[in-house]
Amino acid sequence: VKFKSKFALAVIFTAVSASAIAGKDEDQQIKFRQSAYTFTAWNAGKIKSQVVDHPETYNKDQVIAAANAIAAVANSGLGALYGPGTDQGTGWKKTRLKPEFFEKPEDVTKVALAFRDESNELARVAATGDVGAIKTQFGKLGEACKSCHDKFRAKEE
Ligand code: HEC
Repeated sequence: VKFKSKFALAVIFTAVSASAIAGKDEDQQIKFRQSAYTFTAWNAGKIKSQVVDHPETYNKDQVIAAANAIAAVANSGLGALYGPGTDQGTGWKKTRLKPEFFEKPEDVTKVALAFRDESNELARVAATGDVGAIKTQFGKLGEACKSCHDKFRAKEE
């Protein structure tokens, strides 16, 4: 990996079109993370619908599947999609990552671990089928989403 990035730097300094190539890699990371969060939100929406808004539609297997999908995203190593410079660029759309992300690594660790822990706990609680407990834990996950967004996601333009 080290060799590769040195190679990439060499390319940037020697080829005119290289900044476009480097930019593409950043845009790719942005695209993947926007996709990951969109997929997460889709699954969170299913849980909200079945557990919070319309509990009469609760389906244990569907809620387990949705919770497992969120946990899989949270455990997938999303940090790899936050490379240097990815507060600039366009994935599916212009990124909303704030530059503060790269200035506050301790806060980043905190929100990232909260997302992972609350997701894993939701998956665990979903498996029990205890709707009240799922609802409570889903609220905690929502707070984890929000605390990261409040700190590191820019308002929609
Ligand atoms: C560690 C920080 C963090 C956590 C935790 C987090 N998000 Fe986000 N989210 C972001 C950032 C940063 C963006 C903007 C990504 C970009 O545009 O590059 C984003 C974008 C989004 C988007 C918009 C995607 C798009 O296409 O623009 C949705 C929807 C979303 N998040 C939902 C959630 C939900 C639901 C959760 C919790 C289950 C969550 N996020 C947890 C940081 C986080």
